[in-house]
Amino acid sequence: MAGSHHGSAVGYHHISRRDFIKLTTVALGSLMGAVIGLPAIGYLVDPALKAGGKEAWIPLGPLEKFEVGKPTPVTFIRSKVNGWEKTANSYGVFVLRKSDAPTDVMVLSNRCTHLSCRVNWKEEQQAYLCPCHDAAFDINGAVLGGPPPRPLDKYAGENLKVEDGVVHIFFAEG
Ligand code: FES
Repeated sequence: MAGSHHGSAVGYHHISRRDFIKLTTVALGSLMGAVIGLPAIGYLVDPALKAGGKEAWIPLGPLEKFEVGKPTPVTFIRSKVNGWEKTANSYGVFVLRKSDAPTDVMVLSNRCTHLSCRVNWKEEQQAYLCPCHDAAFDINGAVLGGPPPRPLDKYAGENLKVEDGVVHIFFAEG
């Protein structure tokens, strides 16, 4: 009669901790960088303009406009940009056709070589006269009298051309 003890072992189940693994998926937007090729912005500007208009071929007019043997005054304006300031200067030359030949052209500056006053052609005297200090130059620009140290400046050689019947000078400031 022995009582029996019945014991039972209670299985103990450990609930394993659940690990919540949070996977964060970072979508890396692949920036297939459209490498936008910026076109190389070059200076596709006419050299004459690029230089600020300091140098350029200036058309003075068609040959037939100039009477053979008589200096004809021609003026032109050049503008210059300095920062935000734009100034316009007027220049003058005399065009002289020495004969009927289309290349027989002479162009003289009207600036007196003394102190830069403007000379005028005087038909009666056959001379360019300067109103400032009474200088006189002959029809080819040579000094006849007065204080100028040298002849009138001349556009010749590479600085003078007749293209399509139009007389041009290559003007460079200064
Ligand atoms: S500027 Fe012409 S003579 Fe003096």
